[in-house]
Amino acid sequence: MDIVLSGIRPTGQLHLGNYFGALKNFTKMQHEARCFFFIADYHALTTHPDPTMLHDNIRNVLSEYLAAGVDPNVATLYIQSDVPQVTELSLLLSMHAYLGELERTASFKDKARKQPNNVNAGLLCYPVLMAADILLHRANKVPVGKDQGQHLELTRVFARRFNTIYGVDFFPESQAYNFGEELVKIPGLDGSGKMGKSEGNCVYLVDSDEVIRKKVMKAVTDSGPTEPNSPISEPIQNIFTIMESVSAPSTLQYFKDKYASCEIRYGDLKKQLAEDIIASISPIRERIAEIQSNEKYLHEVVCDGAAKARQSADETLRQVREIMGIKHF
Ligand code: TYM
Repeated sequence: MDIVLSGIRPTGQLHLGNYFGALKNFTKMQHEARCFFFIADYHALTTHPDPTMLHDNIRNVLSEYLAAGVDPNVATLYIQSDVPQVTELSLLLSMHAYLGELERTASFKDKARKQPNNVNAGLLCYPVLMAADILLHRANKVPVGKDQGQHLELTRVFARRFNTIYGVDFFPESQAYNFGEELVKIPGLDGSGKMGKSEGNCVYLVDSDEVIRKKVMKAVTDSGPTEPNSPISEPIQNIFTIMESVSAPSTLQYFKDKYASCEIRYGDLKKQLAEDIIASISPIRERIAEIQSNEKYLHEVVCDGAAKARQSADETLRQVREIMGIKHF
């Protein structure tokens, strides 16, 4: 049976990229495999969040997981720091992770550029901790968006290296996964790049209908096609890409045809996009508010999830220690 694992950092509310890149797949996969889904609060610490906000953000993301349909009776849903075994595995894996390969990781270079005064060791070792998350449960499938592809590649490098050095066939080669399709990258509404919290170009799952309409109507476009079948510019392609996730295929085709024949009206395109986003996320939004206020339920979910995840983690670590020669007297 496949073992599936994925996580999301609690850095605020979840946006369309998190949902269509990752969370939506979690809910599909939980019925097909043994699934572990978690909230990556240790990873969030690399950017020094306000301590008074961290717990609220964890609660938000937890509520969003549940509202989106992750069923804690089916999947194991937990908070990373509730399973500290992951830090031991991360330490053990770090003995075979080389400085050069960590420094070359795109996410490290990007963060080092964005926060030059906070290039901490946690950021450098981020991919090792992420590999530990995955290998802690020996997961072979990892539903993530396109931006995590390189981290998965490194996870495979670490797993292969461990197996080779110790002459075992212990860790699997974990694959980034999206139901046999390409990994998704949801673009932002600002014309270029991906949707991301730090880019300030997001539609959040909790945004009201009015906020969604306003954000979408402000989305960057171009001055319109001037010749039939002219190439699609990046801002318009981005709108089409979001439509691929939220709209019916016939709706997308209608606007692509209108673009090709130079009859497209961007106002109509955006209105349609806004309504399709609202239709696809509003049921989740309503459940988020309800779940968030149910302190007792959230407490039960995380306690139960932590117990199940620790059991799986203990079993892996017992074997890793033995393989590496760490023995009890
Ligand atoms: P994070 O918290 O940045 O994002 C969570 C998930 O959302 C996906 N995502 C997107 N997908 C498509 N388009 C976008 N614009 C977009 N923005 C975000 C991400 O690909 C991710 O799947 N390092 C991870 C958290 C993590 C993890 C793990 C994931 C820690 N350990 C182990 C999987 C397995 C992260 O920062 O994701």
